[in-house]
Amino acid sequence: MHTPVLLSPIVDYLNIKEGGLYMDATFGGGGYARAILNHCPDITLIVLDRDPEAIERAHAMAIDYPQLEIHHGTFQDIESILNGRLLDGIVFDLGVSSFQIDDPTRGFSLRFDGPLDMRMSKDGISAADVVNTFEENDIADILFHYGDERKSRRIARRIVADRPFETTMDLVKSIQKAVPTTFSAQPPATKSFQALRIFVNNELIEIDAMLKAIKNYLKTMGRLVVVSFHSLEDRLVKTYLTQEGREYFRILTSKPIAPNDDELKQNPRARSAKLRCAERNDA
Ligand SMILES: C[S@@+](CC[C@H](N)C(=O)[O-])C[C@H]1O[C@@H](n2cnc3c(N)ncnc32)[C@H](O)[C@@H]1O
Repeated sequence: MHTPVLLSPIVDYLNIKEGGLYMDATFGGGGYARAILNHCPDITLIVLDRDPEAIERAHAMAIDYPQLEIHHGTFQDIESILNGRLLDGIVFDLGVSSFQIDDPTRGFSLRFDGPLDMRMSKDGISAADVVNTFEENDIADILFHYGDERKSRRIARRIVADRPFETTMDLVKSIQKAVPTTFSAQPPATKSFQALRIFVNNELIEIDAMLKAIKNYLKTMGRLVVVSFHSLEDRLVKTYLTQEGREYFRILTSKPIAPNDDELKQNPRARSAKLRCAERNDA
């Protein structure tokens, strides 16, 4: 199960109007899509996800919600999906879903043993390809830039000495050897796993390209709502809205919206979520 994060604020900020055209660009388990359509059934909702398993869930949901228009692809496909249509609102819930993290066969989690995969789209290079074939320096750079891992050089040296790896647990054990457990609250492999996932899925490149194009997808007064889960994602969104996007958008969240205590009690995974919303102007 995936518990949707900041559900009520995303519905409010989308400002859903009857007859409108909306997009959920990260369908996942359909939590947002269902809440949007229950709030206002008389709309068209385009849904997108790069994960073929999420698209299967979307087709199952479409039996009860014929307003869904379903597309398999990444943010870079939005332009061709819209094909000139303009949206009243679009929401992005960035990162991975619980369906992905909690499935050992997808290889996202350092808590479960499984193939070292981490590909949301199930194609392209996997985490195993990175750790088994990349140069030590390149592995260290990935861990440092996408995981903020201060011990990146030491971990990369250990990885290269211990490879090849097949499973998540093989990699966890190698990283534990490089940086034995300290007093840190997190298991030693946490940052490396985050870094590999972001790299394998081109996550920041996807977000950056999406932000550069987003002004072209929205009607005047159309809403952009983005929920991010780590500072690298949130920084890209904030920087776009306050710099390049300033001419085209009015920011509606002067400070990002965070989950309240009730939500955090029910869903501790929501703890680092941040919502930003902006409205397209007529520039
Ligand atoms: C956090 S989950 C979304 C959960 C959803 N809001 C819900 O309520 O169930 C993020 C989803 O976005 C998808 N995703 C991430 N990056 C993507 C991208 N660049 N293009 C398309 N889908 C993406 C992932 O495959 C995942 O299913």
